[in-house]
Amino acid sequence: MTKPRPGGQKGGAPHRGKPSEPAENPRLSPADWQRLRALRDRFLSGARGEYWTPRDLELYDATFAQRIGWKWDAVLETLDRAGWRPKSPRLLDWGCGSGIAGRAVADWTGIREAFVFDRSAAAMTFAGARLRARGLSVATVRPDEIPADTLLLISHVAGELSDEDLLRLARGAAGAAEVLWVEPGSRDISRRLTLAHDELQKQGHHPVAPCTHDRPCPMNSCERDWCHFFAPAPPEIFQSAFWREFSTRLEIDLRALPFSFLATSRHPVRWPAAAERVIGRARAMKAHCELLCCGAGGLVTRDLQKRDAPALFRAFTREEKDGAFVWKPNPSRPERVLEGTEVRLAGSADDGTSAA
Ligand SMILES: C[S@@+](CC[C@H](N)C(=O)[O-])C[C@H]1O[C@@H](n2cnc3c(N)ncnc32)[C@H](O)[C@@H]1O
Ligand SMILES: [Zn+2]
Repeated sequence: MTKPRPGGQKGGAPHRGKPSEPAENPRLSPADWQRLRALRDRFLSGARGEYWTPRDLELYDATFAQRIGWKWDAVLETLDRAGWRPKSPRLLDWGCGSGIAGRAVADWTGIREAFVFDRSAAAMTFAGARLRARGLSVATVRPDEIPADTLLLISHVAGELSDEDLLRLARGAAGAAEVLWVEPGSRDISRRLTLAHDELQKQGHHPVAPCTHDRPCPMNSCERDWCHFFAPAPPEIFQSAFWREFSTRLEIDLRALPFSFLATSRHPVRWPAAAERVIGRARAMKAHCELLCCGAGGLVTRDLQKRDAPALFRAFTREEKDGAFVWKPNPSRPERVLEGTEVRLAGSADDGTSAA
C-alpha cells in the first residue's frame, strides 16, 4: 500500500454539513481511554460476541465512528459524482453500532424512515435514539429480515463475521433494493467484500460502484492488489487537541483512512462502456503516474504523463482524485493515456458519456 498523505480535501461532503458532529469533543477519563484501547484491540483481533455498554457507544460514537463517518462522506461524494441516488424510501442500518452509517445516509438522501439492527440491544437503542433526534421514524427488524424497498447499509461489520456468515449476509442483502457497504481498506477485508459483491451480483444486483461493469470483479483473481480507496479527514481535526490526544493515546494515524466499499442496486445501472474505476492511489513518478483501473476489460494499469495532462496528473498525485474515467488512449501505446474525463452513470443528469 502507498503511504498516507496529509488529509488533502476532495471538497468535503456538502450534503452533510459538518460530518464529524461530535457536539463538542467529549471529556474522557483515563478509564474511557483505556476502554477505547480495549475496543480498538477487539476490532483489530476480529473477536466475536457482544460487547457494547451504553458508555462504550458514547465513546465509540465520538471517536472511531467519526472516522468511519468520514469514509462514508467519501463514498457518498463518489456516488454524487457518479450521479447516483438511491430510490428506496427507507434505510436499514445492519450491525448499526452507534448508527453513524444510518445518520450519514439519512442526511444525504433525506430518507425519514429507518430500521436498525444489531445483535446488541444497547446498540439499537443508541442508534435509534440518535436517528429519532434527527426527526426520523425508527423501528427494529428481526435477524434475517430485510424489508422490501429498502436501502441496506452495512458498515464495518465484516471483521466480526465468519466467511459463512458474510456470505449469508451478502445473500440476504440481495433482498434489499439497494446496498451500500463500507469496510476498512485492509487487503483481507477488501477481498472478502469483493466476494460479497460477486454474491450480490449473482443474486441479481447491479454494481453501481466500485465496479463500472456487470462482470465478476477482476480483483477476485488478482494476487497483488486489492480494491481500496482513501478518504480525507476533515482538515479541522489537525488543529484539534482532542484528536491529537486520540491519535497519541491510541497510536492511530489521523491521516490514513483507507476503506473499501460497494454500492449495488436491483434497478438497472448503466455506466459508459469504456468507464474504468481508478483503484487506490496513483503511483507517482516524476514525470508520469500509474493508475490501476478496473473496467469491463479487467484490471489494467494506465500510464499518464504529466506533460500530456498536467491538471489531471496533479489531481491524481496531489489531491487524491478518484472516480470512474473514460480515457483518451495514445494510439500507438493503448495503456498510455493522453487525457481522462470523469464520467457519470448513463441516465443521470449530464452523464458525460460523449466525453473524452
Ligand atoms: C465495529 S462495529 C461497527 C458499527 C457501525 N456499523 C459503524 O460503522 O460504526 C460492528 C457492529 O456489528 C455488530 N455485529 C457484529 N456481528 C453481528 C451479527 N452477527 N449480527 C448482528 N450484529 C452484528 C456488532 O454488535 C457491532 O455493533
Ligand atoms: Zn471491480
